[in-house]
Amino acid sequence: MSTLLKFDSSPMGERSISRKLTTQFAETWLKSHLRGTVISRDLTALDIPAIGAPWAAAVHTPEDARITEQAKLLSISDELIADLQQADEYVFGVPMHNFSIPSTLKLWIDQIVRAGKTFSYSSAGPKGLLTGKKATLLIASGGAYEQGSPSASYNFVTPYLLTVFGFIGITDVTIIAAESTAQLMGGKVDPQAFLAPVLEKVKAHATV
Ligand SMILES: Cc1cc2nc3c(=O)[nH]c(=O)nc-3n(C[C@H](O)[C@H](O)[C@H](O)COP(=O)(O)O)c2cc1C
Repeated sequence: MSTLLKFDSSPMGERSISRKLTTQFAETWLKSHLRGTVISRDLTALDIPAIGAPWAAAVHTPEDARITEQAKLLSISDELIADLQQADEYVFGVPMHNFSIPSTLKLWIDQIVRAGKTFSYSSAGPKGLLTGKKATLLIASGGAYEQGSPSASYNFVTPYLLTVFGFIGITDVTIIAAESTAQLMGGKVDPQAFLAPVLEKVKAHATV
């Protein structure tokens, strides 16, 4: 039995494009994984705290030497990491915000990138520990950032997420982008027709 962890990070609720894509992915994935389970995590609702000096000190204190308060400080991080370890596959809905990822997703990343848990240091350099996992990134952006175009260098979402996931061992990553969603703002473009091709891509990939 496999488990899919579905993450959403758009604050736009029903109007969110990336949430429509993750919903489609999960629905299709369940049809092709009959005994599979989907667990949903809405990063905008989790209230993940920003890390601070006490958190960093707790991380650098050996587990058996941590005082109760330090263990408590790391409990959210521990839970979020356990989530990742237990799942086989992940899908992320990622809206582009100011050329980068939403702050809620960054807060989550800061909690799950942890030495000894999701990566380790070795003589050969850092080594990712979340191996054998598969991730799909469903990225929505108001503008377009095709490779080779003048605006491509403004896209910090894709290179950042590929780097950070690769760092913790998640290297089997597929990206599907819904670009130019700003076209939907004026009401002149039919949302269903606009989204149909990207939803088809999502469906095709979710059955793999
Ligand atoms: C705070 C904020 C910042 C944004 N910054 C960008 C940006 O830098 N580049 C861009 O192309 N679109 C930007 N957008 C537009 C979103 O990427 C676009 O609306 C996308 O559809 C968001 O995904 P969602 O519909 O799932 O929320 C921004 C939207 C918001 C709300």
